[in-house]
Amino acid sequence: MAETAKRSRILIVDNEEKNHGLISTILKDLPCVFEIAKGGREAILKTVSFAPDLIFLEVMLPEMNGYAVCKLLKENPDTWTIPIVMMTSLGDKGPKLKALEVGANDFLTRPLDGDEVFFKTRNLLKIKEFADFLKNNAACRSAETEKKTAELDAARQDLVRSEQSLKASYLETIYRLTVVAEHKDEASVSHVKRVGLLCAHVANQLGWPEERIELIKYASPMHDIGKIGIPSDILLKPSALSPEEVALIKTHTTIGGKILQGSQSTFLQMAETIAITHHERWDGTGYPRGLKGGKIPIEGRIVAFADQYDALRSLRPYKPPFDYVMAYRIMVEGNDRMGPSHFDPELLEIFKSTHKTFEKIYERYKDVPAPLR
Ligand SMILES: [Fe+2]
Ligand SMILES: [Fe+2]
Repeated sequence: MAETAKRSRILIVDNEEKNHGLISTILKDLPCVFEIAKGGREAILKTVSFAPDLIFLEVMLPEMNGYAVCKLLKENPDTWTIPIVMMTSLGDKGPKLKALEVGANDFLTRPLDGDEVFFKTRNLLKIKEFADFLKNNAACRSAETEKKTAELDAARQDLVRSEQSLKASYLETIYRLTVVAEHKDEASVSHVKRVGLLCAHVANQLGWPEERIELIKYASPMHDIGKIGIPSDILLKPSALSPEEVALIKTHTTIGGKILQGSQSTFLQMAETIAITHHERWDGTGYPRGLKGGKIPIEGRIVAFADQYDALRSLRPYKPPFDYVMAYRIMVEGNDRMGPSHFDPELLEIFKSTHKTFEKIYERYKDVPAPLR
């Protein structure tokens, strides 16, 4: 059996019964179903329940006139697309203008002209059909877009998770490499972890962009990677070192540079700079090149500062761990081994104003076993 063609729903609003039959007779050749309302309030209720495709609306109605009904329906986002044809027996121009003013789509004057009613109805139903098509299509498109956006968001979150897991694995590898390089234990893992975080904090205070802060956070833990080339009995010697042994230890900077050199990765390039320059001093008394002031790359200056502070707070073969107050005093006032002239004055100022953050980072990551020796 052939599918029945969609029948348009037409609401006729008129309190005169004879007028109902007249319109349905004129439209008998169109596939329509009709509903009747005899007053303004009933017209509103029937518009909601019947969902018409077209409304013929008499101006003169009991309770609520046709203009008020039309205005209400045209102001409602659920009904404003329904075409409304207003009808009146009054022949002058006023009612017609008033109908257009309240949003009516067309106007008919009684006595009704059959052809005029027929063609206006057919045309307005086509416009309504097209408006419905656009509305439904927009709803479908919006649902489709939402689905795609959700899929894209899920994929992006997966990517972020993978990236985070990759970064975590990478950092773990760097920390382990440091342990091997320095012939040490878990304590040196927490040291390089803290140095990375302290460097990121200082870089943030200097106003670096987010990506560069991340670079130094991940590059700085490798500052002592060159110690892999230094014999362990010298690295771990508890007694005083001979001048030759000190000279040998100092080569861990250039060895680190050679290990890291020639990479295309910006992060390994920064790690190379840091490995070579993290023992330079602001006053030019550092090594390996005795660079002075602004000639020392800023990455090296930052790591030198963070590394020294954390070394003061940690246990070393040649010293006990100093407490927060003592470490602060040595950084700012100096002792027999080091002085504030070793550091970039701008970094020293950042330390003075944010030393509590330095301490928080130490406290947060200090709880690992002490060195075995
Ligand atoms: Fe070093
Ligand atoms: Fe270090």
